Amino acid sequence: MSGSLKDFVLKNIREMEGYTPGEQINDPEIIKLNTNENPFPPSRKVKEALSNEISRNRLQLYPDPASYELRKAIASRFGRSEKNVIIGNGSDDVLTILFRTFLNHEAGFIIPWPTYSLYPVLAGIQNVPCFKVPLKKEWKINFPGILEELNRHSKNKMVIFANPNAPTGNFEEPNHVLSFVKSNPVLTLVDEAYISFGGKSLMPDAGTDDYPRLMACGTFSKSHSLAGQRIGYIVAHEDLIFEMDKARDSYNLSRLSQISALAALEDEEEYQKRFETIMQTRKFLSSELRKRGFDFSESLANFIFVSPPGLSRHEGNAAEKYYTFLKEKKILIRYFSETSTQNHVRITIGKKEEIEKLLEATDLFLKKFL
Ligand SMILES: Cc1ncc(COP(=O)(O)O)c(C=O)c1O
Repeated sequence: MSGSLKDFVLKNIREMEGYTPGEQINDPEIIKLNTNENPFPPSRKVKEALSNEISRNRLQLYPDPASYELRKAIASRFGRSEKNVIIGNGSDDVLTILFRTFLNHEAGFIIPWPTYSLYPVLAGIQNVPCFKVPLKKEWKINFPGILEELNRHSKNKMVIFANPNAPTGNFEEPNHVLSFVKSNPVLTLVDEAYISFGGKSLMPDAGTDDYPRLMACGTFSKSHSLAGQRIGYIVAHEDLIFEMDKARDSYNLSRLSQISALAALEDEEEYQKRFETIMQTRKFLSSELRKRGFDFSESLANFIFVSPPGLSRHEGNAAEKYYTFLKEKKILIRYFSETSTQNHVRITIGKKEEIEKLLEATDLFLKKFL
């Protein structure tokens, strides 16, 4: 055999860069504000449901392959039928199912940029053309620009955007989105990973007679403190869900994940209180950072995307310096070095006491460098 082992690897995989997840450091002293997890553990009822399931001694059996009870519970939350819902191992899995079902090298998609960096990575894995339309001022989505891009490339079959967007946090008004969906001749997927922190969901509209081409995806990772359990879903027209169901792995949600998601949905009152707390803390952090000269637009997510005040006495990028300074103080936030985001950092809304520690460290940073 001659040549390199890498010659066996598909060209599109060889040439792509993999997804870079936020750092997961196993140091209990770290204040972790870098990957938009919920700062609170799952509710007491979720923990009870999990331990009951473990006591039933059924983990040796496969789970329900269709996650039927969970489909029904999600559907009823949005006034829909279970035929409108597909479940997956995190929204990353349902996005993969979506790509397998609708996109390939001849059927591309459009995203605003910057947004969730997994979308172009999925494009690389499945050899799907991906077109980026830059965000406008204050991180607004350029909907007319997306329609122009669609007209330029007839191969595009889908538009994907997150609302609220990540990493920017800004929220597009539902009426705005719905009128875009009407004028968009291809499919639209709205990723609502961060919808529980002040936004209004379009799940009740996704795949209805009025909006048959609209799909919405959601996750239990951020809202319901279940990032470790990996539960995501898509709400869409039943004809599209029927096709997507053929493209998923057979048992794509574990028994314990199904149980915990169902229990979380039944404990909605408790979770609503937590959403309120996170929104209050976001307000507190926003006003404190503004007082200190940080620049940013409003976020309706469980994070804010901020630009530190310029460093007058020192060379270099203020955002990167702020990130490094905080990391030395064992506070982890997220810095994205690419051109469109390099002057900002993303800070997840943690517990109030964590945010107070971040502010103390921020004061030290400003004293040292400004
Ligand atoms: C916009 C967006 N969608 C989806 C996800 C991933 O969600 P999940 O944990 O369900 O895979 C993230 C995670 O950071 C995200 O930012």
